[in-house]
Amino acid sequence: MDIETINRILEKYPDEPGTLIGILHEVQNHFRYLPEEELRYIAKKRNVPITQIYSIATFYNRFSLRPKGKNVICVCMGTACHVKGAGKVLEELKRRLGVEVGGTTDDLRFTLEEVRCIGACSLAPAVVINEDTHSQVTPKQVVKLLDEYD
Ligand code: FES
Repeated sequence: MDIETINRILEKYPDEPGTLIGILHEVQNHFRYLPEEELRYIAKKRNVPITQIYSIATFYNRFSLRPKGKNVICVCMGTACHVKGAGKVLEELKRRLGVEVGGTTDDLRFTLEEVRCIGACSLAPAVVINEDTHSQVTPKQVVKLLDEYD
């Protein structure tokens, strides 16, 4: 367990109700997920039930209890993207990465997720990788797209 990192994060937040979300955000940013041991340590230090932490962790989509890849791929499966072939792009990504939606490659390089309309319907089908939005993606472009990310 990385106690040093957790202590550093805890020091930034007063021991008050309402600070847990901020703490969990930082833990998620640092580890790219919320590791169980670290969550138990936070619960103990802040004297809150671990169930309270888990209820926050499972309520917000942004949090993950499983390790995520260095690069998170979100394929938009909203109506506009679906109509323009997002399903085929998703199938190609699944095939190339060898994971299902929600899965992470063994080398922790990629996590594959799907989302509903990211508000960029004119770019359909859209794929967001980390902070980058890729427009009008075709299955043929998938390999090149993946190569852009280490
Ligand atoms: S449906 Fe994909 S961006 Fe709106």
